[in-house]
Amino acid sequence: MSIPNDSNTNQQWGGRFAEGPWAIMQAINASIGFDAKMWRQDIRGSLAHAAMLAHVGIISADDEAAIRQGLAEIGQEIEAGRFEWSEALEDVHMNIEARLTERIGEAGKRLHTARSRNDQVATDFRLWTRDAMDGLAAQMLDCVRAFVARAEEHAGTIMPGYTHLQPAQPTTFGHHMLAYAEMLWRDRGRMLDARARLNECPLGSAAMCGTGFPIDRHGTAKALGFDGPTRNSLDGVGSRDFAMEFLAACAICATHLSRLAEEIVIWTNPAFGFVKLSDGLTTGSSIMPQKRNPDAAELVRGKTGRMTGNLVGLLTVVKGLALTYAKDLQEDKEGVFDSAENLTLCLAATAAMVRDMQPNVARMAAAAGEGFSTATDLADWLVRELKLPFRDAHHVTGRLVAKAEGMGVDLPGLSLAEMREVEPRIDDSVFGVLTPAASVASRRSHGGTAPENVRAMVAEWKGRLA
Ligand code: ARG
Repeated sequence: MSIPNDSNTNQQWGGRFAEGPWAIMQAINASIGFDAKMWRQDIRGSLAHAAMLAHVGIISADDEAAIRQGLAEIGQEIEAGRFEWSEALEDVHMNIEARLTERIGEAGKRLHTARSRNDQVATDFRLWTRDAMDGLAAQMLDCVRAFVARAEEHAGTIMPGYTHLQPAQPTTFGHHMLAYAEMLWRDRGRMLDARARLNECPLGSAAMCGTGFPIDRHGTAKALGFDGPTRNSLDGVGSRDFAMEFLAACAICATHLSRLAEEIVIWTNPAFGFVKLSDGLTTGSSIMPQKRNPDAAELVRGKTGRMTGNLVGLLTVVKGLALTYAKDLQEDKEGVFDSAENLTLCLAATAAMVRDMQPNVARMAAAAGEGFSTATDLADWLVRELKLPFRDAHHVTGRLVAKAEGMGVDLPGLSLAEMREVEPRIDDSVFGVLTPAASVASRRSHGGTAPENVRAMVAEWKGRLA
């Protein structure tokens, strides 16, 4: 038997319709412009579904073989750029299904038994997002490796540490690199946590209530690499929190990369001159010949905006939707694709910049001594040696800083006599704690900045990364 094909209506559901869609209906409805990206996942899902249908006896083995063959050929057509995507067929699912029927006839029309586009798209999209998660998690790990390598090299390279972007305490470039290793490691953990929750298969939820056919959902879930089937069909077709979590993990990671990007912008500014990037990782100006602009860092910082936007966008799309599926959910994909694509770029650019950065050791060491950065060390000395309560030591140190500032010198530039005008019990040994090198070496508390701590942490990281 063959179904009449009323040429002006949709072949997939034309039965009820007397006329085809108006141009605007088709234009606003079609998602093929962006969801064609999921063609591999769609074919993979259909293969698993067809195999299951045959296995439980819903379709014949011959039909299943024809479907398998047809889908493989369609995959080759798409890969070779020979597949003609049609907007009239709305989305990737109907394009592939229609082509299958065109190629293999009757058997193609049986593929959609016990399935709806609602569980189909939820499955395809999970598969796509899972692949993106795996790729991004691997890139995050690569960034961690880059930070650890630079930390090892620069465990003893002193640089200014800031709070409020004002000189605070001397730290080391290595310690600074390891701060980002920690952030990117958590970003990877967040991505993998989200992956674990995503990894349930909605296929077989059908339109929303499941199906009367004796399908094997555990079988299809397993065939598609899921831990098992989702447990509620309404949730299976109607929920997108896996995508929200993915977007949140992307936005948080991008935010971390953006902070480093901002620091690279600051460090490469000639007024700081802490770090140089290779010519190949900077750009020039068409009018100002002297320029070396850190555009890659600026774009990492800039692209963070859209990633935050993609998260907020999806949260907003879903917030008002009564269960289960509504076409609003078709708006879930572009943000996810966009965040995946842009975070891929940002992670790659960051890894390249981190591996390339050439710190100006002398410049950073000099800057580390500016701004009375060892004032805390002086206050700590007063507590340790003169047994002053910390609050009093803070006050005495403040007066010494004011005195030095008034004289236009730094703290070690004050003579012992000048210091004694403020606190008569100070002795010579105070000068031992006033250099940036002494300051960083002293900070050996767990997680502290001391070069020996940084080296120990690098060793720990290498163990974790091995
Ligand atoms: N292109 C659709 C989407 O992305 C597929 C699901 C369509 N389902 C429906 N009931 N119209 O959401």
